[in-house]
Amino acid sequence: MDDRTKLSVIYYSATGTTYAMAQAAVEAAEKAGAEVRLRKVRELAPEEAIRSNSGWHAHRLETQDVMEVELDDLSWSDAVIFGTPTRYGVMAAQLKQFIDSSGPLWARGVLADKVFSAFCSTATAHGGQESTLTSLFNVVYHWGGIVVTPGYVEPSQFVGGNPYGASHTSNNGEIPPDEAALTATALTARRAVEIATALKRGLAVA
Ligand SMILES: Cc1cc2nc3c(=O)[nH]c(=O)nc-3n(C[C@H](O)[C@H](O)[C@H](O)COP(=O)(O)O)c2cc1C
Repeated sequence: MDDRTKLSVIYYSATGTTYAMAQAAVEAAEKAGAEVRLRKVRELAPEEAIRSNSGWHAHRLETQDVMEVELDDLSWSDAVIFGTPTRYGVMAAQLKQFIDSSGPLWARGVLADKVFSAFCSTATAHGGQESTLTSLFNVVYHWGGIVVTPGYVEPSQFVGGNPYGASHTSNNGEIPPDEAALTATALTARRAVEIATALKRGLAVA
């Protein structure tokens, strides 16, 4: 039996910035020993809106083979990392829609005692990275999950400077995640794996 810690990276990305961070999270979680699922949430925007933005349309084609998330991915996971672009200071509606479909799992307590972390991207430096992450974590408190953040546990965190989760300023998708953002994303993923693994082992002997 494979007793590796199971981790899902569940994200939304219109123009690819958050997707690049999701890939970094997957790589770091696998390196930390986890079995990892990368899953995108369902697109809700109308086709004409997507086609009117060349970056959005191109990214949609680029990621057409990434599997869409299902509720089973939440049940399966010991740890979940959510990734989202900021939409007026909060998560994207596409991710919220998926989260809002989790009622049956929440009602059965399936989402309790799992580890949750997050990353996000914004257009501007003060465009809502912290509010996006902290408001997303409100969901986790309702689920009875355990929020794991990168904090300032490594010197690299003083470069990116966001203890709530990894984040990146993209200038509306023009600037891909830089070294500081990718390092923070990897640290976030590694901590999610480490804490989830310790929790899983502890609960197994409790
Ligand atoms: C409807 C909408 C609302 C947005 N709200 C914000 C915002 O409040 N603050 C900000 O800095 N960027 C905002 N943005 C920009 C995106 O969050 C930003 O470009 C992000 O990096 C895109 O990520 P993606 O490439 O993964 O789609 C908004 C974009 C859209 C389309």
